[in-house]
Amino acid sequence: MFEEHIIRRSRWYIRRLYSWFFNLLMQSYWDEIEDCKEKVFNKLSEKAEKVLEIGIGSGPNMRYYAARNANLNLLGLDPNPKMKKYSRKSAAKAGLKPKNFKFKQGVGEAIPLKDNSVDAVVATLVLCSVSDVTQTLKEIKRVLRPGGVFIFLEHVAAKDGSMLRRLQKLLDPLQQRLADGCHLTRNTRERILEAGFSGGVKIETYSMCSFPWITRPHIYGLAYKTRNF
Ligand SMILES: C[S@@+](CC[C@H](N)C(=O)[O-])C[C@H]1O[C@@H](n2cnc3c(N)ncnc32)[C@H](O)[C@@H]1O
Repeated sequence: MFEEHIIRRSRWYIRRLYSWFFNLLMQSYWDEIEDCKEKVFNKLSEKAEKVLEIGIGSGPNMRYYAARNANLNLLGLDPNPKMKKYSRKSAAKAGLKPKNFKFKQGVGEAIPLKDNSVDAVVATLVLCSVSDVTQTLKEIKRVLRPGGVFIFLEHVAAKDGSMLRRLQKLLDPLQQRLADGCHLTRNTRERILEAGFSGGVKIETYSMCSFPWITRPHIYGLAYKTRNF
């Protein structure tokens, strides 16, 4: 009983600390990744009205939504309730009307939305952290309306056999502990390609220069669900 309490308490501290750390120290990272984000968010239709962002974290993507459509309704899903405060602040700073942004505690593996109900799903640096990548992609496909787009940006495992890949394998358990379940060795590109997005998938690769170098390389892109699907 006492042990359980200690474990719950330490998890609470890690989540609290992580949300604070993430919000404070990620700015240089977000600055560097901006060009990649611009490219994919440019494909978010100005007509998109309902958008879901899974693993929204502290909300670093808010300005892309606000710039797109003043009437866009964004649902931010994240299992960490501590992200609510930060994502709300980011939404307000980006000029998203309070009525147009809702935060919900939840996971990508069980999205609390109806089939075919959103114009776009966004995930940036999230598939590294979910418990089940395949199930999350299945859920994304389910909630996307025909003609909808999945916008993603993720860090993935380095090339097989490379020194970096070996280092990632070594540091993976530590990374999971320190970064709230984030994995360094996921083959997310392959998982997205296998997921069966009926309208096709476009993926680009980018190698980060700045911290955190251990998360090289990144992939970013778009996956579509066809209209007649
Ligand atoms: C590295 S952060 C990325 C946050 C933000 N998307 C960004 O680009 O900075 C990973 C986020 O995924 C969330 N997360 C972890 N497991 C998840 C799951 N199963 N479903 C959805 N989000 C999850 C974490 O709480 C965290 O906010």
